[in-house]
Amino acid sequence: MAQNEIFLDRNENNYGPAPACYEVLRTAGVEQMSWYSKVYSRGIKSVLSERLAKNHEVPESIVLLGYGGEDLLKQTVHCYLAKGDTIMIPTHSWWYYKSIAAEKGGFTVEYPMLPGPDAFIYDVEALLRLARQHDPRVVLISSPNNPTGNSLEPADLRRVLQGLAGSIVVLDEAYWGFGGATTNYVKDLISDFPNLIIIRTFSKYFALAGLRIGYAFMGRGLTQLAQFGARYLGYNRLSESAALAALDSADYYAGISSRMIEDKEMLYRVINGLPGFKAYRSQANFILADIPPANKDALKEDLARRGIIIKFFKNEPFLDYCVRITIGTREQNQALAEALTAFAEEKGLR
Ligand SMILES: Cc1ncc(COP(=O)(O)O)c(C=O)c1O
Repeated sequence: MAQNEIFLDRNENNYGPAPACYEVLRTAGVEQMSWYSKVYSRGIKSVLSERLAKNHEVPESIVLLGYGGEDLLKQTVHCYLAKGDTIMIPTHSWWYYKSIAAEKGGFTVEYPMLPGPDAFIYDVEALLRLARQHDPRVVLISSPNNPTGNSLEPADLRRVLQGLAGSIVVLDEAYWGFGGATTNYVKDLISDFPNLIIIRTFSKYFALAGLRIGYAFMGRGLTQLAQFGARYLGYNRLSESAALAALDSADYYAGISSRMIEDKEMLYRVINGLPGFKAYRSQANFILADIPPANKDALKEDLARRGIIIKFFKNEPFLDYCVRITIGTREQNQALAEALTAFAEEKGLR
């Protein structure tokens, strides 16, 4: 096994957080560790929820904080799904959705996600038809979706939400930012759809996965979750401070994100130029690609020998001959492109 492995299998942001985030950790004082972070005097959850509310022009009371998007997803499903209730999730989505549903004894219905010529697409008609048929308690939408990388277009999202007025709708935007850091739609969506919760994280775009902090915006109908999810004594003060520093570092994140967009284009070109491979367009920090089935094991071994780890799927029939490649730093992406090209040449695929 090579030294200094390149991890392109976990959808982390390998550029790391903005310098201001390190500064926060370096200069943290004793009160950061010893004192509860709750802002008692002003009746808000925390300085971070207050800042997020201001940035998105929504009341602080509808901002929820949690231990990453994972925690907020789990809290939402645990709060609303009872044993035997139906939950709808996209097919080819984050495996963990099914696991959370199973914890509550939910009945999972998968709605289709179709491979288009260049990118995967949500099948809006099928989603709405299945919702009419199953009357789900909870519907999970992932945009951009992991692992397919596609987003639900704004007009389609509104159509879907109009058809799901009787369900709790969870919009998982863990990969928000990589397709553009616009956020002005949050205010209108949340006010138009009281049954909607939009979940985001500092793990991906902001590269703070290790600090485990995420946030959500809740429609006014989610009062049960607002109570269930609130934490009386506050949140992790160091994570909050680093998250605030990240929000103050928009230029840094725009810079690394535009490099990742350029590298995604480079990888589409390289991968789509290799016989038997096909890369799907993605709005996230990863790409899903078909690989030649006969070469799956050899490719895995070859990349591992070069110290490059990408995600291979198992026990997911549709994805068996796909790989998911996280967009790393420029150097890492270049190393992967060279490795894939060399592999194709060695196997006589060119
Ligand atoms: C689709 C999706 N949602 C949510 C998460 C949760 O991320 P975190 O808990 O780090 O915010 C992930 C993590 O990979 C993910 O892929």
